[in-house]
Amino acid sequence: MSDVMQSTRFTNQILANRFALAPMTRISAEPNGTPNDVMADHYEAYAQGGFGLLITEGTYTDDGASQGYANQPGIINDTHIEGWKAIVNRVHAAGSKIFVQLMHAGAQFQANQYTNQPAAPSAVKPKGAPLGFYGGQTEWKTPKIMTMADIRFAITGSVQSAVNAKAAGFDGIELHGANGYLLNQFLSTHFNQRDDRYGGNLENRLRIVVETIKAVREAVGNDFTLGIRLSQVTVTDPDYQFPEGEAGFRQIAEAVRDAGADFVHTTDGHVRRAPFIEGTKTLADVVAEVDNLELIINGGIDETNYQDFAADYPEALLAVAKKALANPDFVQRLKDGKEIDDMDFAMLQPKATIPNELAWRRKQVV
Ligand SMILES: Cc1cc2nc3c(=O)[nH]c(=O)nc-3n(C[C@H](O)[C@H](O)[C@H](O)COP(=O)(O)O)c2cc1C
Repeated sequence: MSDVMQSTRFTNQILANRFALAPMTRISAEPNGTPNDVMADHYEAYAQGGFGLLITEGTYTDDGASQGYANQPGIINDTHIEGWKAIVNRVHAAGSKIFVQLMHAGAQFQANQYTNQPAAPSAVKPKGAPLGFYGGQTEWKTPKIMTMADIRFAITGSVQSAVNAKAAGFDGIELHGANGYLLNQFLSTHFNQRDDRYGGNLENRLRIVVETIKAVREAVGNDFTLGIRLSQVTVTDPDYQFPEGEAGFRQIAEAVRDAGADFVHTTDGHVRRAPFIEGTKTLADVVAEVDNLELIINGGIDETNYQDFAADYPEALLAVAKKALANPDFVQRLKDGKEIDDMDFAMLQPKATIPNELAWRRKQVV
């Protein structure tokens, strides 16, 4: 058994091992965004299944345009905080730590109880079609171009949500800067066609990311773990590349560190993919080379390759999504040498909810 199963320090906390549950949207909260018992059972199962760290699904951050999906959880009011507290307590009782992923949908907006109008860097829709298993919408809406006031509102929402996360007992926060959601849209030259201080060159496209991290850091203090998930790919575009290549990604990693992030969580089709317009490194390689910045890697980690990744990225946490969904006790199974199942996408049909997953599981037993 490699040291991946040993207790490890990540930022300023001790985790039971180096496995993290990757964030997965489960659209199973109450219609008003309140986390519920179904979600608590769900997250507790991963903690009991041995993951040292859980990262929650993308959670919305304001009562404007941040919510992207019906039944997505929020963290913007006392009711939400109370719902999350119950989940955090059960995860802690089972021996794991838990970070909340803070997410603003931007143009990737399928349903929102507060507004019908998406807001994004530019009036640009995502490529491809909306995700059927998140709601059944067939077309993207053209977003409103965010004004300076809208940008301020989004940053303030992230800050207040971070404060709420601390109140709910979370061990840290991951800002969603990946997969085509708002912060990633500002970084992307597909989504961001602005010609003001928030668009154009990479320094400008990074501005909202840097401002958000700085403001959150100031609000939560230096001891609270804060990081950001980053990718080039989006949920509907596996081919997007930053024009600035590997050097640009290094600039992003250094900028988020300098703004106050403790870690970057890289995600790509596969950890080993060399995705840049120029350069041979992976996203994870670039972050691993940046001083004073911790790393979570994600993309295609499974029972056959985790030891290699653990050796190649000796300081990193290994975040697992689909294999975890198929095996909430993935880590325990590895320890016990038990078989690991592949994920069956039928678990997420017709929608990616926890009740549909449970119904699928009941059918397997019969
Ligand atoms: C059902 C489902 C929901 C997801 N929801 C999120 C999410 O809310 N936030 C996020 O950053 N990534 C989300 N992802 C992406 C995963 O975190 C992960 O990056 C991706 O599945 C690749 O990792 P894997 O090869 O271990 O599955 C989701 C993936 C799946 C399968």
